[in-house]
Amino acid sequence: MRKEIIGDCTLYLYDCHSMLADIPDNSAIVSDPPYGIAFQRGVGGQGKHSVRNRKAIVGDAHPFDPAIWLSFPEVVLWGANHYAQRLPHGRWLAWDKLAGVPEYDDFSDVEFAWIKGRGKDRIFSHLWKGICKASEKGGKERWHPTQKPVALMERCLKEVAGSPIVDPYMGSGTTGVACAKAGRQFIGIEIDEGYFNIACERIRKAYAQPDMFVERPAPPQQLSMLGAAE
Ligand SMILES: C[S@@+](CC[C@H](N)C(=O)[O-])C[C@H]1O[C@@H](n2cnc3c(N)ncnc32)[C@H](O)[C@@H]1O
Repeated sequence: MRKEIIGDCTLYLYDCHSMLADIPDNSAIVSDPPYGIAFQRGVGGQGKHSVRNRKAIVGDAHPFDPAIWLSFPEVVLWGANHYAQRLPHGRWLAWDKLAGVPEYDDFSDVEFAWIKGRGKDRIFSHLWKGICKASEKGGKERWHPTQKPVALMERCLKEVAGSPIVDPYMGSGTTGVACAKAGRQFIGIEIDEGYFNIACERIRKAYAQPDMFVERPAPPQQLSMLGAAE
């Protein structure tokens, strides 16, 4: 096991199932677990937009069983449509990845998170299809084949009031970056050392440059003198 403390984030390189007893009972679980869809293919294109680590995701060869996480008071789990039959009644957050752009490829246009408890189902629209992205543009590379936008995980944080936020399947650390930006206490666990190192680096950067992922607003359009006079 390796442990890194970065700001209010505590990160473990370990198997989360072996750490279950150490996770505080009052934690809010916010995670994107391996879905059990045997993700093997490389996606993300070539060059600067390609995924750095094109390897199988640990745990993704078997159907995901969410049972061990369901006793926590607050739970948000992505990919839940893939294991919906193992979940009790809850509510849904749909991520509309096209955000108004016409459908254009063979990948899913929507992803679903299951949220523990009663309430309204919600939609979050945020373009994120290959190189077409509403955020985290500017030549940054993708670090993980199933990497989520920081903006999406920030939206998830609005669904949970408790502390700490725990992501037991942290991947490249997107939930931790969202927590660092929001000033929320975070515990992340990742079994793969390569992704763990990436998560540490991204979370460190998020503390060092709090506005790193904030898109700069487009410069105001100049009113042409001619237009203004008309
Ligand atoms: C779907 S990915 C999460 C990607 C993340 N949302 C991101 O933005 O980078 C799931 C991650 O869980 C990790 N994982 C699988 N089984 C694990 C286990 N038992 N303990 C800790 N991490 C595990 C995998 O290595 C993988 O990186």
